[in-house]
Amino acid sequence: MMLHIPDVLTKAQVAELRATIDAADWVDGNETSGAQSALAKRNAQLPEGSPAAVAAGETILDALARNPLFVAAALPQVVFPPLFNRYAGGEAFGLHVDNSIRQSRNGRTRIRSDLSATLFLTEPEEYDGGELVVEDTFGAHEVKLPAGDMILYPASSLHQVTPVTRGARVSSFFWVQSLVREDARRELLFQMDVAIQQLGGKVGRDAPELIALTGTYHNLLRMWAEV
Ligand code: NI
Repeated sequence: MMLHIPDVLTKAQVAELRATIDAADWVDGNETSGAQSALAKRNAQLPEGSPAAVAAGETILDALARNPLFVAAALPQVVFPPLFNRYAGGEAFGLHVDNSIRQSRNGRTRIRSDLSATLFLTEPEEYDGGELVVEDTFGAHEVKLPAGDMILYPASSLHQVTPVTRGARVSSFFWVQSLVREDARRELLFQMDVAIQQLGGKVGRDAPELIALTGTYHNLLRMWAEV
């Protein structure tokens, strides 16, 4: 499942975060790549664990923890410390799949990447190209979102970033280990959760049928979650 999560950060938070990271020193993006994706990747990145990356990452982690749509869709167990990249001057990231296991530089976080996320930190009109293209069984999906918005997609997907031919594209990217490993199961739970929330608005939260459905949701989650 691909999901657009709007307004993860406010415009003011984006501006503040950009001021922090734009003033920092950037390095070659291949520092975080596996051997295969290093061949395809051309961009700049904030050094993992650098003060600017840690400070900006904390802002994002706080926002994610308070975002009901993210929590419902990702069922996060561990969120990898957010990383930051910048594409300009024709830079791109060719077709690849993200590494299955991610370990942070300090060794404190090691996760199975179930979900990949890109949080856009540049407005679409500030650059040309730079679409995130994610492939699934329904075809290739081009994504370019307003600053502060995020796309969540299965980390198992083939994806690429097209060349940035004007301006610069700055984003945060990271991975999530979910309580529910399988995308199909997570999607079913999400659809059920959304329907339950909507139904609650119509029939009242104390309707016995709704309480029963909510129980079923939790019992499915109990069956499938790995904690
Ligand atoms: Ni990737």
